[in-house]
Amino acid sequence: MMKAIIAGTGSYLPKNIVSNDDLSKLVETSDEWISTRTGIKERRITNQETTTDLAYKASVRALESSNIKAEEIDLIICATMTPDNFMPSVACVVQEMLGAIHSAAFDLSAACTGMIYAMSIAEQFIKSKTYKNILIIGSETLSRILNWEDRGTCVLFGDGAGAMVLTASEKSNGILASTLYADGSKNSILTCPAIPLDNPYNRQSKNRESKIKMEGQEVFKFAIRSVTKCIKDVLQKADLSPDEIKYIIPHQANKRIIEQSAKYSNIPEEKFFMNLQHCGNTSAASVGIALDELAKANKLNTGDYIILVGFGGGMTSGAILLKW
Ligand code: COA
Repeated sequence: MMKAIIAGTGSYLPKNIVSNDDLSKLVETSDEWISTRTGIKERRITNQETTTDLAYKASVRALESSNIKAEEIDLIICATMTPDNFMPSVACVVQEMLGAIHSAAFDLSAACTGMIYAMSIAEQFIKSKTYKNILIIGSETLSRILNWEDRGTCVLFGDGAGAMVLTASEKSNGILASTLYADGSKNSILTCPAIPLDNPYNRQSKNRESKIKMEGQEVFKFAIRSVTKCIKDVLQKADLSPDEIKYIIPHQANKRIIEQSAKYSNIPEEKFFMNLQHCGNTSAASVGIALDELAKANKLNTGDYIILVGFGGGMTSGAILLKW
């Protein structure tokens, strides 16, 4: 049976580092509060580059590490909730920048679960033999939709991009199981409105600001429940036990969410990879950046079982289990 294997990974973070101490000059907060509540020490905040620029730079690196040329890419999916335009999509502009002239391209909106949704969609195209090589990108400039006066949210997020090339293979490696969820009944606990309805027939809704609002504790509880369930799901589907898993790469939102998820999943915390200390929560980019960091640090060996798991606005969640 045809499988989707990861042929290469890449990531890119803007150069500008913003520490917790830097943030304490903007809002009433402290390194002590942010570190103990979230585990985050610093994040990257773009001062020039766009979501498309970050996406392009991560993609170049993913293509380089895959040995697949841009012209061989059949489809580009960019998961993002901070696109530079409603149209064209980030994916279409990146297609042009890369010279991926034979690919279809679209953006996908599943908030912080975007990369997991994108991988699952790409897997379907590969399994059905519709496409052979698919470039997936998670790219975000969350800094543009943060309320920089709200200390409850602005300290949590960062900008960045992660990318990977999936390719068709008949080997036993690759994606073995996936699971996706959405719970629209909780859509109001994590929101960011788009532009208001404003036309000659409706001039009433001008006060909607495109900024993130969050009920932190509700999101916290949702996250732990979701991560635990999604991990259980993919283990069951792949008929594997937690002991057989080398790494779990969770969405990098909060160290305490990861610790609690490890506890409720009955999986040692050491198996959960974390880089949120230096990236913060980069939304759809986070799992891709983390996977690239692990791969580039030579911590993954052929045959290792890995779970990628995410959750986010919507509320969405999902996981992928793969054999490296
Ligand atoms: N610095 C200092 N104090 C802060 C603060 C900050 N950056 N942010 C909030 N506080 C204050 C609050 O105002 C509150 O003060 P009060 O008791 O005087 O009212 C106090 O800290 C506790 O706030 P609370 O919101 O109850 O804290 P918490 O323990 O729930 O932690 C989060 C807040 C945001 C860290 C936590 O809820 C969380 O991580 N939620 C999940 C968020 C997430 O991951 N979102 C993205 C999902 S994709």
